[in-house]
Amino acid sequence: MKSVATAPAKIILFGEHFVVHGTKAILAAIDKRVTVTTTFTENKTIKINSELGTIEVPISFPLSIYQVESEFRPFIYLVNNMILAKQNVSGLEITIDSEIPIGVGLGSSSACCVAAAASISGLFKELSSEENLKMAIEAEKTNFPDTSGADCTVCTYGGIIEYDKINGIKKINNTSELYIMFVNSMIPHSTARTVEKVWEFKENNEERFSQLCALENELIGEVKLAMTNFSATAPQAKYANDDLNLIGQKMSENQQMLEEIGVSNRELQNIISILDEISYGSKITGAGDGGCIIALMNEGDDLRIGEEPQTPEGTDGYGPQLSILLRELVDRQAGWAKIDTKGVVWSKIEE
Ligand code: MEV
Repeated sequence: MKSVATAPAKIILFGEHFVVHGTKAILAAIDKRVTVTTTFTENKTIKINSELGTIEVPISFPLSIYQVESEFRPFIYLVNNMILAKQNVSGLEITIDSEIPIGVGLGSSSACCVAAAASISGLFKELSSEENLKMAIEAEKTNFPDTSGADCTVCTYGGIIEYDKINGIKKINNTSELYIMFVNSMIPHSTARTVEKVWEFKENNEERFSQLCALENELIGEVKLAMTNFSATAPQAKYANDDLNLIGQKMSENQQMLEEIGVSNRELQNIISILDEISYGSKITGAGDGGCIIALMNEGDDLRIGEEPQTPEGTDGYGPQLSILLRELVDRQAGWAKIDTKGVVWSKIEE
């Protein structure tokens, strides 16, 4: 018998970092997924296969999370959890297949924790979404104890959500019709270190930081209105142009705040200034200091970008200079996403 779970990647549209300090954030799940498959074995080991490598440890309980590299710790935590629940296990094999780029701010580790919680525990019993989320957040804490829980929450429920640490999730809408371009800056970053840097900024600039938190909450209030201005419950419901303009403008305002707290840099700003020319608005997503930039675009823009400019205006209509800059971004590493409306999905396959 196989227990298979998939969970989506995420973007933070508004409020990263500030959410760690109690403000609201708006997040969206996107249509890139990780799949975690778990099976029983007779090997008396826990074996984990992923694109980062394979590990196999003897099944003596409780397993120490410190006997494995950090990227495998959440899985060992989850296996332990099953054993603490007094399940009788002779061995397990866990396989991770992912289409989410790793370490670029698109929530690869959170999606893994969410899918792994569902897949591993699903061999024994199906969990409710709330139970699954709780376990996934605890698993994520093995690597990132300061997590706000926002990333795992959106990977669990899908769609576009509002999140804060006290009230948890409020679903904003469930339309998939938002077109996002992401560009990987290719600058490696550490979420834990960036979160620490923001704590330092807060300690040194207490008054300004609390003003910024208030501004972030206000901004999110305005965006929420634009996101609920229409009956966006159906996946195919579309935003009005005015609403897209407002959402994009607020993304740019949010970016200014992220720059002020020190999680941007010149290279990220360069990418943003190019994307601002062709989008409603663009910003860092996730921790910053590197990782991905996201831009709010129109349907079909993916087909225009990257065209060779064959006329003075460029076949893509952006003009030759901008066209060349855009092609450089695409060559570096860029992608497109729509909103995922499903969240975590689990199934059991009898063999
Ligand atoms: C990381 O994707 C988002 C941060 O706000 C941290 C968190 O919310 O846990 C930087």
